[in-house]
Amino acid sequence: MDVNPRIRTARWADKEPVAALVAHALHSGPLAQWLVPDPTCRRRILTDVAVIWVEHAMFFGDIQITDDLSAAAMGFHRYRSIPPPSNYRSRLADAASPHARQFELLDQLLTQVRPTEPHYHLAVLAVLPAARRRGIGAAMLTHHESRLDRIDMPSWTETTPDSQDVYRRHGYLPRPALTLPDGPVIAPMRRNPHPAPGSWPVNTARPATVTAPTCPQSDAQR
Ligand SMILES: CC(C)(COP(=O)(O)OP(=O)(O)OC[C@H]1O[C@@H](n2cnc3c(N)ncnc32)[C@H](O)[C@@H]1OP(=O)(O)O)[C@@H](O)C(=O)NCCC(=O)NCCS
Repeated sequence: MDVNPRIRTARWADKEPVAALVAHALHSGPLAQWLVPDPTCRRRILTDVAVIWVEHAMFFGDIQITDDLSAAAMGFHRYRSIPPPSNYRSRLADAASPHARQFELLDQLLTQVRPTEPHYHLAVLAVLPAARRRGIGAAMLTHHESRLDRIDMPSWTETTPDSQDVYRRHGYLPRPALTLPDGPVIAPMRRNPHPAPGSWPVNTARPATVTAPTCPQSDAQR
């Protein structure tokens, strides 16, 4: 079945539902089990930590969701270095205790392998289990790449080895895998942009695709 979900930018009011969606989608995967081995509190902790990152993405990135909230793509605009979420350590301790250390460790390990050049960081692509294998993940990536190509920006993601094929079909190439201590393998992937004619030159680390302005300068600009 080909799906064509309506995809829109998440608003502030979507913060809690998006966090719940992300937690639900990740809950039974190996990364979530590594982060919070205790299944009795895993859902609650994942949701509370996701709220912190969803909020952060609303300031330093963007979140695209399907209208029916079956899928979300959350990314950060790492066009320059961005700060951590405000009061992150204390908020993480409140949200994830006694598993906060695992989240910190994950963050440290992923930061070490992430590119230092300007890039879009697709931190989470999540589709609810009941909605999977219908092409929604692919539709989210198609939407995402059309936006990236407009701004001529590479994209970076960290996924699971068994999800790599979906990304590969959208131009992501595998980078060296990372094995978490006593935990699962994380598969980082990178996609180079395919700039569209007239793409917006946000990425100043790459040659600009737009030349001199065509409008005469105003007095204020001279
Ligand atoms: C990875 C993930 C986003 C994929 O979402 P999805 O909506 O299932 O993706 P798609 O449906 O586009 O593609 C998934 C598979 O279904 C297949 N598929 C797509 N439409 C299909 C259909 N109508 N019938 C049967 N299979 C179909 C695709 O070919 C693909 O197969 P493959 O992986 O064996 O190559 C989803 O599994 C997920 O949320 N996983 C948990 C979170 C996660 O691990 N995210 C990545 C790290 S943050």
